[in-house]
Amino acid sequence: MPYTQISPDNLELQVNLEYPSQGIIVCDAELYSFHADFFGTGPLPLIKLEAAEANKNLDTVNSLYCFFCDQELKRGDIVHVFGGGIVCDIAAFAASTYKRGCHLHLYPSTLLAMVDAAIGGKTGVNFRSFKNHIGSFYPAERVLIHPDFLRSLPLAELRQGCAEMLKGHLLWNELPLPDFDGQLPTVEEILSHALYKISICRKDPFDVDTRRLLNFGHSFAHALEGLSDFAIKHGDAVALGMNMACDLSLELDLIDKARYTDLKNTLGLYPYPAAALDFAAKQSPEDILPWLRQDKKNSKKLSLILPVGDQIKAVEISL
Ligand SMILES: NC(=O)c1ccc[n+]([C@@H]2O[C@H](COP(=O)([O-])OP(=O)(O)OC[C@H]3O[C@@H](n4cnc5c(N)ncnc54)[C@H](O)[C@@H]3O)[C@@H](O)[C@H]2O)c1
Repeated sequence: MPYTQISPDNLELQVNLEYPSQGIIVCDAELYSFHADFFGTGPLPLIKLEAAEANKNLDTVNSLYCFFCDQELKRGDIVHVFGGGIVCDIAAFAASTYKRGCHLHLYPSTLLAMVDAAIGGKTGVNFRSFKNHIGSFYPAERVLIHPDFLRSLPLAELRQGCAEMLKGHLLWNELPLPDFDGQLPTVEEILSHALYKISICRKDPFDVDTRRLLNFGHSFAHALEGLSDFAIKHGDAVALGMNMACDLSLELDLIDKARYTDLKNTLGLYPYPAAALDFAAKQSPEDILPWLRQDKKNSKKLSLILPVGDQIKAVEISL
């Protein structure tokens, strides 16, 4: 059996890679190069996208609209997206807005996309260096996880997924910590994180309540990504951002020294790249603050996810 339905929602484990029967394919160019036999010989129209934050913009969305139009894509057709978080976010946004929304199936090909980006329906692109500033909520009808895709993933990219798994573990202790030495996670580990995210998003699909916890480290991360012109990768930025959140909590007296040390010890397991560590250390609060102000989650006050006592929760901060 090629597909195994593993949740009452839309998450499926794809044991054997099976070519879609209808619609069009949007494929990560790098992934395509590893699976040219699979993608190149099938009959469906296919467009390749280069996964780079610099391409995660409305120009790329426009090129997808042109492709959809040229292929006479109907509302009832399926857009099949194979790729990491960048390609999933861009193509899902295009699919959500083309003819007011087409059918969408996501096939995440990176660890980060399997445990996080492909789940929960957030789509979007960057705008003026602000991360995911334009987007929509548009959950895929099916998310198909094919763990074998991870075999070609470079170590540095595997690490990005480990950062989101580390975040999951800090938020919910029962979620397993990843192996930070480059060992591929087991299918069970991937699925436990993915299913947990599904359960959170089901309770709060529009990110107004519990789901906001998943943004732990992200407001700072988006600042670091923007300030570094996206030289710092998303997962690395999230890991550094969680450290910044802990530092701020200690400074604001929201946690005691013991809790701080405990959190920092767990965060210390992450293999931070030296250049990213160095860059983050050089940023002052004045550098970071303008980016925090642009965060989508803010209302009148700054809304941050911070450790408070023995919890991690949303905190509103006046400026
Ligand atoms: N929508 C959401 O809820 C959500 C959540 C978390 C992160 N994100 C977004 O996800 C993005 C990061 O995603 P990512 O870490 O997957 O990075 P990515 O999409 O840039 O992929 C990383 C690299 O791996 C390559 N690649 C993809 N699959 C491969 C494979 N199987 N084998 C070899 N190479 C492969 C890509 O071409 C790229 O070079 C960020 O833009 C972030 O904002 C979105």
